[in-house]
Amino acid sequence: MPEKAIITMENVSTVYEGESRPAIKGINLTINQNELVYVVGPNASGKTTLLETVNGLLPPFKGKVTVFGLDIQKNGKKIRCQIGYVPQDFMVKPGEPYRAIDVVLMGRYGHIGFLKQPTEEDKQKALDAMKLIGIEDLADRPMGKLSGGQQQKVMLARALAKKPKILLLDEPFSNLDPDSRGQIPLLITKLHDEQDLTTMIVTHDIHHMLEHCNRVIVVTGGKVTFDGTPEQALPLVENHPHTTSLKEEHHH
Ligand SMILES: Nc1ncnc2c1ncn2[C@@H]1O[C@H](COP(=O)(O)OP(=O)(O)OP(=O)(O)O)[C@@H](O)[C@H]1O
Ligand SMILES: [Mg+2]
Repeated sequence: MPEKAIITMENVSTVYEGESRPAIKGINLTINQNELVYVVGPNASGKTTLLETVNGLLPPFKGKVTVFGLDIQKNGKKIRCQIGYVPQDFMVKPGEPYRAIDVVLMGRYGHIGFLKQPTEEDKQKALDAMKLIGIEDLADRPMGKLSGGQQQKVMLARALAKKPKILLLDEPFSNLDPDSRGQIPLLITKLHDEQDLTTMIVTHDIHHMLEHCNRVIVVTGGKVTFDGTPEQALPLVENHPHTTSLKEEHHH
């Protein structure tokens, strides 16, 4: 069976408004259906910019991004209905009145339609996603009163409640405790396989990189400087100061 390209980037550069230097430059990348790709690299190298250019939240200054064969700039809304995105920085005010279940239900909006109310089925899908992540007991708690790790789990549940075809996760495990850091990446990998997803995960955690994928992309200085297996990527990321503490653990 020939591999089917889901995401393609052709010579893509993205420049933030008011900046002169591109945050990512000349990116050529193809991600095929059911690939699980980890994206690693130092701070400020362009990982978040890459994900946001893929999902059309940032317009490329040069080049073209195609998702499901469609230009993301012309079909952004339609395509994003199929993308579960967990952003790296989501700001939740302490007084935020939305309950966790409301936030997860937002993942269903693309399916619900403009000015329509969520159905029982939507609510059930939202609750199911919370159960999967193990946070159903938080459903009625205000988002602003949850811990950072709990909020991160709510955002993951929201992405899953969407029943997406693509998952784009930007350091989605960074606030999780050691138990959750073991279980949740495993769960994502399992869902990825079962639901035939196409997944990109940004991480600084080389354990996850080694255990959960067979393709790693290293982004350095706005460019893809490596694209290969986790084992091949290991020496590159191990030398980076950000991962030295992990390096020690890894060799135990
Ligand atoms: N909104 C913005 N406006 C201007 N420049 C930005 C903006 N966001 C990011 N940048 C710049 O773009 C470059 C890439 O940033 P990006 O957030 O993609 O890095 P990253 O690899 O995700 O880093 P981290 O590991 O810290 O999350 C950096 O030089 C950063 O300063
Ligand atoms: Mg980032």
